[in-house]
Amino acid sequence: MKIGIFDSGIGGLSLLHEAYHMLPQQNYIFYADTEHVPYGTKTPEQIIDYATDIADFLVEKDVEAIVVACNTATSVAIKELRKRYSIPILGMEPAVKPAVEETSRKRIMVIATPVTIREDKLKDLLHRVDGEHRVDLLAMPKLVEFAEREEFDSEDVHEYLRQQFSQFNKDEYCAIVLGCTHFNYFKPAYREYFGEDILLVDGNYGTIHHLADVLSIPLVQDKEVYFETVHNMLYDNNTEYYFSKKSIKDEKTLEHLKRLHNRLEEVRKF
Ligand code: DGL
Repeated sequence: MKIGIFDSGIGGLSLLHEAYHMLPQQNYIFYADTEHVPYGTKTPEQIIDYATDIADFLVEKDVEAIVVACNTATSVAIKELRKRYSIPILGMEPAVKPAVEETSRKRIMVIATPVTIREDKLKDLLHRVDGEHRVDLLAMPKLVEFAEREEFDSEDVHEYLRQQFSQFNKDEYCAIVLGCTHFNYFKPAYREYFGEDILLVDGNYGTIHHLADVLSIPLVQDKEVYFETVHNMLYDNNTEYYFSKKSIKDEKTLEHLKRLHNRLEEVRKF
């Protein structure tokens, strides 16, 4: 099957990376809207325009399903997209439910973009799953910029995290929900700040499970797939990469994507 995956930028690559592990037998079109990134500080109207434009592009290319690998675009555009097309359109939302279910007493912090934090979709989710009011929210828009610059471990990144997290008492937290796909790249830095025991919860695994379910396609058991496969998939023909409608074929950008996949592999089980 041909599956379209899009995001404002390289955050969505973390979803594609998980798909390589769990659904390596499918074909993908990956679209990063590098001309308009970041979405998290734009208006809902702008984001809806970008998202419909991208989805039109993907549907033209005959994808059989679309995954909006962007919590921000899902927050504001998913209803529009579902109205517009008859193929399955999956979104992503912060994985608060598993975080609440897997932990008991301590607090949970959801980090996401300002749009995701502000929108009703997240409020509705908290209303449904956070009966004990254990969840706090924090917008971290600068992490998107750092990620786009491929800056994951610099002193500036650590300083930004320290500044933002200092409003909270870190000892009270047992889990951080990564409510933006760009935030996956920084897992070692969160762990350094919060300590080894902090649970880092992202939505990729759950979304790929859901996708397999919706399309009735079999999941590969994780342990059967090794990094070599991920590496090969970047260079064989099962994925077309686009940066805002520009097809990526040049060696330099493919190397960039490969570095990002390497980083995602490193942090995957963090
Ligand atoms: N990666 C996106 C998300 O999951 C949005 C980042 C941005 O463009 O602000 O929310």
